Formats: sequence, structure tokens, C-alpha cells
Amino acid sequence: MRIQAIRGVKDIMPDEIEKWRWVENKANQVFNRYGFNEIRLPIFEKTKLFSRGIGETTDIVEKEMYTFEDRSGEMVTLRPEGTASAVRAFIEHKMYTAQTVQKFYYLGPMFRYERPQAGRFRQFYQIGVEAMGSHNPSIDAEVMIMLLEFFNVIGLKQFELQINSLGCNKCRPEYRETLKKSITNHLVDLCENCNIRYQKNPLRVLDCKIERDIEIASGFPKITDYICNECKCHFEKVQSLLRETQIPYIINPNLVRGLDYYSHTAFEVTSRELGAQNAICGGGRYNTLVEEFGGPPTPCFGFALGLERLISLIPFNDIKSIEKNPDIFVVSLGEDAKSIVFNLVHQLRSGGLSVERDYEEGSMKSQMRKANKSASLFALIVGENEIKSGNYQLKNMRDGKQSSITAASCVEKIKTLINSKV
Ligand code: HAM
Repeated sequence: MRIQAIRGVKDIMPDEIEKWRWVENKANQVFNRYGFNEIRLPIFEKTKLFSRGIGETTDIVEKEMYTFEDRSGEMVTLRPEGTASAVRAFIEHKMYTAQTVQKFYYLGPMFRYERPQAGRFRQFYQIGVEAMGSHNPSIDAEVMIMLLEFFNVIGLKQFELQINSLGCNKCRPEYRETLKKSITNHLVDLCENCNIRYQKNPLRVLDCKIERDIEIASGFPKITDYICNECKCHFEKVQSLLRETQIPYIINPNLVRGLDYYSHTAFEVTSRELGAQNAICGGGRYNTLVEEFGGPPTPCFGFALGLERLISLIPFNDIKSIEKNPDIFVVSLGEDAKSIVFNLVHQLRSGGLSVERDYEEGSMKSQMRKANKSASLFALIVGENEIKSGNYQLKNMRDGKQSSITAASCVEKIKTLINSKV
């Protein structure tokens, strides 16, 4: 019986994982500098958390959640995103009592039952960032700047930052009505989905990805012309901070995001190199979600980026530091060597070195071939003659030079040698 992975779900193989770790470490370093520390959130939650948090009429909640009843009859859902969980944790752990902005990030798999295609998966990884507890537009700008700083550190160059303001609970209803009126005249030309969106949540029409609908939507009234003075001031301040720090951006008045919790600033980072699924990252302000879940009024700002999409864009050929070859390949020959090698490898590894060996214990030629293939820095040769003389042979695999090394002190000597090379 051959069982394959579920459609839209993929393995991240050992030869790719170094890239993932490298990106994750860089994110950790950059985010730490801005005061964001890691939080680990559960992979599944009560379904209500997502359906209320993300919005009942969003595609995610209507069509894409992996929801099931557990053995006690509770409806649970594999998380389609991290913000709702972050808000739950913020309230559950009374993080609001800290009186300072709470900044944290999370990393891990998310699950959405979408139609799989290039760059779109049913299990995908996100790094998400949330700053909770301030309405200051500096937070909006700072978090976007941090994201771009991260992109700079990992060598990502071709992307576009798009921003918009989605107004607030005070000014959005008026815009919603105006938009709905405009849409009415185009219903016959819009897709079937947009006809449903028009009824349930007309702003979603602006998010349609169908070419013809995008064209029609470009003629609809712009939300930025309807937002109240407070929202306008906030949006202008965010922009002036971005300009001050020379961050290029464009305003996309049709950017509405696929989740309902946003107000004020919303943003996306896209890349033309990604094809149809062109969003690397999306986020924005969500000022009412904490309160809706029973916490105190807490304005928040955050984003999440898709790791598969991001990693596919990074020019890893230019990044030398991610090469992960063993320091030493131990080549052993003869019966006596067999008993020594196990412990020798153990000692070298305990000494902090990365060590490989040939578990097949093949011929000298075949072991040297494997050493070459592993791209180790050195090969340590332990044969019968070496054991008798008490001196092993150390071969530098880069220049081919070979030297003798005393068995008794070989671990220390190799450690010094390798540390001097890195
Ligand atoms: P989102 O826009 O739904 O936002 O997802 C963020 C990113 O996750 C997208 O830009 C994309 O790169 C990646 N992504 C989404 N769906 C898929 C998929 N099916 N396959 C591969 N990658 C995907 C959120 O999730 C919000 N929680 C962001 C946020 C945090 N807002 C405030 N705080």
C-alpha cells in the first residue's frame, strides 16, 4: 500500500531545511532588535475563536477551515492564521497588565483548505508579528520598517509595499453603503462570488482576483476619500514616517485584506516574481479584536509572512554561511579501527565538531569517495598502521595535504584547527 501526502501539503526535505533555519534565525535576530520575542501558540483552537475573530463572511471561515469535532464533542479548528490565537493568549495571560506595548512573534504551520497551486498550499508556514497596546502610528511604521529591514538582511530585493487605510467603525459604514450603491450597477458583469460578496460584505468585492472584476473595481469609489479626519491623520502620519525613513510604498485604495478584523492601516508586500499568488506578507491594524474577545480596549498592529513564498525568492547561491558540511569525515579501515571509531566520532562530536563516517565500513576508496561527496573540511584516516603507530592521518580535503596527528591529542588538535578556520 502506497500512501502519499495530502494534496497541498508538502515535506520540507533535509537539503532545504538549512535555508529555512537560516531565514528563521535572521527573523529572530532582527525582530529581537525591535523588541519582539517569540511566543508559541497552539496549532488548534476552539472554532469560535477563528469564526468570530477572522469574520463569518470571509473566505477563510466560509470555505477554508479544517474544522472537526473532537472526542468530547467540541468543535475545534486547525489554525488558519495566528492573530486570533495571539489575541486569545494576550487576554488569557493578562498581558495587558504589563502597561507597555506587548510585542511578540510566532512561527509555524497554518492550515487553509484552498485550491493548491504554485505558492498556495493547504499547510503553509507563517512568521507572524503582533504589537499590542498602542494606537501610535509610529508602531505601524516601525513594524513595517522592521519587516523591510528583515528583507534587506536576507537579501530580498524585488518587492512592493502597498498600503491603504480601511477607516474605522465610525467612517466605514458610510463608505460601505456608497460602495454598495456603485456595485449595484455592475452586478451582471461581476463574477458569481462577487454577487454573493455584494450581499454579505461588499468590501470583499475589492479583493476579487479575477481580471475583469479588478478592472471594474478600479472604477469604484475609493475608501481613502471617505475616511474620517482621525483616520486620515493616522494614515498621513504613517506615510510621513515611512517617507522620513526612505521606505518606498504605493497606496492601493483597493487593498482590503481577506480578514475582517482590520481598521486604519492595512498593508501587503507583493512580488512580481511570485506569479498569481504574489503576496509575501500582509497585515495591518486591528484595534477592536482584543475588546471583542473580552479584553480591555487594546489597539494592535501586526503582520504575517508566508515562508514558502519568501524562501522561494531568496538568492541562496549568494549566501555562503548556510552551507552546512561536516567538519570531519572519519575513514576507518580494519577490525581494530571499527572499535575505536565509534568512540572517536563520539568524542569529536562532544567536542562540538560535526562529524560524519561511513556506516557501511567499505573500502578505503569508497570511504574517500563518500568523504569527498560530504564536502567535509577534513578526512581523518584511522587504519591498522595508524593504530599501531599511534598517529592518525588528517587530510585537508580542500588542498589535499595530509599530516600526521597524535591519536591521544587528536580531538583537541582538530578542534583548534577547525576553530582557526571558521
Ligand atoms: P494573510 O494575508 O491571510 O494574513 O496571510 C499572510 C501571508 O501568508 C500571505 O501574504 C501569504 O504569503 C501567506 N499565505 C496565506 N495563505 C497561504 C497559502 N494557502 N499558501 C501559502 N502561503 C499562504 C494573516 O494571516 C494575518 N493573520 C496577518 C496579520 C497578523 N495581521 C495582523 N497580524
